[in-house]
Amino acid sequence: MNKPIVYVTCKMTGAAVVRLAETFTVRYRNQTVAAAPEELAKNITDVDAVLCYLDDRFDASVMAQAPVLKAVANVAVGYDNIDIPEATRRGILVLNTPGVLTDATADLTLALLLDAARRVTQADRYVRNGQWKGWTPDLMLGQELRGKTLGIIGMGRIGEAVAKRAVAFGMKISYTRRGNEGEDARLLQEFGAVRLSLGELLKTSDAVSVHCPLNQETRHLIGITEFATMKSNCIFVNTARGAVADQKALIEALKNKQIAAAGLDVFEDEPNVPHELMEMDNVVLVPHIGSATIETRTAMTDLAANGLISAFTGTIPDNTVNREAWSSKPTPSRA
Ligand code: DGY
Repeated sequence: MNKPIVYVTCKMTGAAVVRLAETFTVRYRNQTVAAAPEELAKNITDVDAVLCYLDDRFDASVMAQAPVLKAVANVAVGYDNIDIPEATRRGILVLNTPGVLTDATADLTLALLLDAARRVTQADRYVRNGQWKGWTPDLMLGQELRGKTLGIIGMGRIGEAVAKRAVAFGMKISYTRRGNEGEDARLLQEFGAVRLSLGELLKTSDAVSVHCPLNQETRHLIGITEFATMKSNCIFVNTARGAVADQKALIEALKNKQIAAAGLDVFEDEPNVPHELMEMDNVVLVPHIGSATIETRTAMTDLAANGLISAFTGTIPDNTVNREAWSSKPTPSRA
């Protein structure tokens, strides 16, 4: 019996690819940069499974090139790179990596918030450029976090981990979240966190941090009107997906001093970063590294790869995004 084929689209951290070889014939594209859509489509024509990253786009046209594809494991918690309804229609199981990147992403969120508030990267540039001529009382004055309100948009796992850290810095927490009020009492008790409407949250927060997934409901959730609502001292942080905020509106809000600063890990058209943002001293820019620790990337790769192994040995993985697709089960071997 031939083993099913798994295509691994990019270099993976840890030993997951070795483990995959016990169940699959592994076709490994051992490169660090994502393939162009045409290359991706060409390489999946005969594969049963794919292990990929968020830069690999699985839209209807790509999936149409993969008639025997049964599962795609995305090494990311977000899966906006995959057309889920189309995958489900084709019986393709989609897996993601929830849970394991919570702390790493929350750490980076706080790093960006602190950096923007205390102007760390700006001050670093100042020193390196030889601009520092001596201590002055008003040099690089920033904002303190203690006593300020952090508005968290999307109080899921990562939002909550951010809240925990922010409370340790003396911040007050408000949040928006989907779903019913079941969790509100616990969040109030644990973090003193108050659930608000988006409008109220934006109006009253000294910092706003985005932690919701990107989907049709959240694309450009924060636009011209929302930035105009924010306080002029507000620091906007995004470690979720760039397109949750309208990037043009963000640039205008920064230019017009409607908000004070931003810390950005994600952008609308990665890896392109608008030159306006590059030129702003009050913006901290990092290249989508929310989950970029050795421990977390290894755990993400393991979770995604183990999910594929589980699916092809007969058990639906817990980290399945579209459980409806399971009815046309992956098979352990090729006919
Ligand atoms: C995710 O998992 O969605 C992150 O953005 C990638 O690290």
